[in-house]
This record gives sequence, structure tokens and C-alpha cells, in this order.
Amino acid sequence: MPEPPHRRRAHASSSDLERYAGLFAERTRVMRSSAMRDLMAVTARPEVISLAGGLPDTSTFPPQTFAAQMTRIAQESAAEALQYGPTEGFRETVDCIVQVMGAEGMLPDPEDVIVTTGGQQAIDLICKTLVDPGDAVICEAPTYPGAIPVFCSYQADTIQIECDAEGMRIDELEDTLERLEIEGRRPKFIYSVPTFQNPAGVTMSLERRRRLVELARARELLVVEDNPYGLLRFGGEALPPLYQLDGGDFVIYIGTFSKILSPGIRLGWAVTPPPVMEKVVLGKQASDLCTSTLTQYFVREHFAGGRWREYVDSVAEIYRERRDAMLAALERYFPPQASWTEPEGGLFVWATLPPYIDTSDLLAKALREDVAFVPGQAAYVDGRGRNSMRLNFSAGGEEEIREGIRRIGKTIAEQVELYGALTGETPEVAPRSQSRPSDAENVVPFRKAEGA
Ligand SMILES: Cc1ncc(COP(=O)(O)O)c(C=O)c1O
Repeated sequence: MPEPPHRRRAHASSSDLERYAGLFAERTRVMRSSAMRDLMAVTARPEVISLAGGLPDTSTFPPQTFAAQMTRIAQESAAEALQYGPTEGFRETVDCIVQVMGAEGMLPDPEDVIVTTGGQQAIDLICKTLVDPGDAVICEAPTYPGAIPVFCSYQADTIQIECDAEGMRIDELEDTLERLEIEGRRPKFIYSVPTFQNPAGVTMSLERRRRLVELARARELLVVEDNPYGLLRFGGEALPPLYQLDGGDFVIYIGTFSKILSPGIRLGWAVTPPPVMEKVVLGKQASDLCTSTLTQYFVREHFAGGRWREYVDSVAEIYRERRDAMLAALERYFPPQASWTEPEGGLFVWATLPPYIDTSDLLAKALREDVAFVPGQAAYVDGRGRNSMRLNFSAGGEEEIREGIRRIGKTIAEQVELYGALTGETPEVAPRSQSRPSDAENVVPFRKAEGA
């Protein structure tokens, strides 16, 4: 049989690359792949325990409910649901968004909301609207690994401010703003995930939230608050979002249905002041005309049932148990030289290892044990984070989490032993629970990344 005319080559050859290289836009030189996307390809093998993704557990959504909701859409509004929609999104979707934000104490004007194709598109549209090549964008260190490729593709000069157990260090931010002012530069925005941060799992304290908003207002700077995890709280007191403290003058807000309902529906949103919104809408028109009508109908249907919050609370409870399982496993299987955060919500723990361990190298070894995590470097633009890792506890069951951590712990212990053999030092390799029985030792603060 003759080959089909469009059969794809497995890989681009070097002559292919040469043929196209002269056509690539300047920005493609600095484009970066998202570490998580790359890892997803490797971890697709069913035998791999992946603590690498940021996947919510969608198996918690009852299939019968999904079937009934979609059937109702098909029976009652098939033609509309299959049609294009407004660029800003349907008013009914915005009403659902207002409810979600209301649950965290925010009261946005529906006119300030745009429905986007996930929170990811909101980050992209905000950069498209505000960032010219070379512009300064400030974010946390570490920051959401998926934001880095966006900042890079708009050729931003990304400046990262150290995080500790209370979130972004506002004193360091102030120093940076001073330095930029002396250089005659005004950052386009300060990007923060203040609540249950991806990747570090830390939450910005109330005092720092207030100081950040005061700073933004005093200096007339924009803050972009990205808050996918605020409602996934398992402990501690809820803190007001930056958007609430500011009232929406200088804080642009990004939300998403990905972690409270489904990432597959690709529905998120941005709330911005009206002059910014005008440009964001134009940017979105050029990108994709509108967000999926079908999935907006699904959200409308889901919220009409009046039990959206019940579902969020039920998954938060499951994630709390998985977080506990992960923290207990870390205690048992990671060596005493390691430390990690203890998040009160969200999906991630951030672990810091001795400085001589490079987690990118460690990942290659861990994959041989059929387990994966995100190396810390993916959360930095400048090579920091080499001895840290992001661990996800939402995607798999407790048994899988324990086994995954056991395998990573074993790989780390081998590295620690090897280091000892090479240097003559005799590091403690016994897991923390055996070497340090005291409970007081168990609270490990979020430590400054080595080499920072
Ligand atoms: C902080 C943060 N922002 C944005 C996103 C993008 O999510 P989505 O595009 O699915 O809404 C994620 C996903 O993990 C995230 O953690």
C-alpha cells in the first residue's frame, strides 16, 4: 500500500531545522518549554508513580452527574452550546465566577471579568497586554513553573524575589523596586500566587499581603494575584486575597475552575480594571475569539445544581488526607538532611535537599525507579533551585504517595551515601523518623534555596 502523502517524520532532522531557522521570530530564541509538560510525556507510562504533575483528581467527580449535566445541555440547548460565544464569556459564567470569588470574600464587578481558556491564558493575555521585550516582571522565587514560559515568550526580564514560610519577602521586593527606580525602570507587574503557592505550598502572611498592597498603591504598580487554590484549604485561618485588600484598582486577579471542578474544561478568568480589560479583550479576540461555549454551559449547569461548594469541600478533604500521607512518608523515608514545607492547602509540598544534590540528575535516577517529581530549577529563571523539588499529593492515592516517596527517599539516600564516600564525610543516612524521634524536629520551615 502506498504511504499516505502526509506521513509525519518522527524527528526533525538538522537540515529541516536549518531550512526553517531563518523564519523563526526573535522571541522563539527565548521560548522555554514547561518542565511539567515535558515530564508528562515521560510519566505517561502506567508503571510510573508521578508526583510531578499538578493534576486534581478528576475521578472524584461522579460520572452519573457529569452524564446527566451534559445530557441536559444536549436536550435543552444543543444549538447554542455548539455555537461561538462572546469574547468576554457568557454572563451566566461570570455569575458563577462571582459566586466563587464571593466564597473568598471578594465582590468583583461582573463588567471587570473576562472568561479565559484556563488561568494559563489569563497569564498569557496579561503579558500580551502589558509586556514589551526587556520589560521587568517581578515574581516569587520559586514561582509557578508554567508562568516562566509565558514571561519568556514575551521576552520579559523576569526578576524573582525570595520566598520563605510567609511567602514573598516584601523587604527584598522593596529593595528591588528601589534598584529598578534608580535604573529608571518601572516593572510592568508583580506576579504572585499568595495562597498555597505552586510550587512551594506556602501562604503569604496577612502582614505581607497588606504591605504588598500598600506598596502597589503607593507606587502605582500592578500586582497580578493568581489564586487557583484558595478554596482548597485543609487547615488554618482563611486570609483575605490581595484583590479584596486592594478592591481591584491595582490588583489584577486570575482564577480558574481547574482545581475546583475540572482542568479539562479549560475555563479560567481574569478580573482587571476597565482600561486593562479593553486591551485584554482585544488580545483574546486575536488569540481564540472566545472560550469554549460548551464548557461554559457545563459550568452553568454544575452551578445551577447549587452544590458546587460541597464538591470543592469533598475534594479538599481527600487532598488533606493525601497531604498527611505525604508528610508522614517524607518523615519516614527522606534523610534528615532534607526539609520540606507543610502546606495548609493546595496541591504541593516543596522539599529542599543538601546542596550537593542536583534534583535534575536525581530525577533521571528516580525515573529508573519509576517515580517522578518536578526538579526545583523549573521554578526559577536563573538556575537556582537545583537542590529542591516539587511534590504533588493530589493526583494519586495514599498508597501510591507513600510508595513514591519511599522510592525517591531511597534514591536520595544513595546520593547522600555516595557523597559521603567521595568526600570522606559520614552523613546521617537514616530516615528522620529513626534518627530524630522528637516531634519538635518535625516542623520544617521553608528554607532559602541553596545557591540563592
Ligand atoms: C498558579 C497557577 N496558575 C495557573 C495555572 C493554570 O491553570 P489552568 O490554565 O488550568 O487554569 C496553574 C495550574 O496548575 C497554577 O498552578
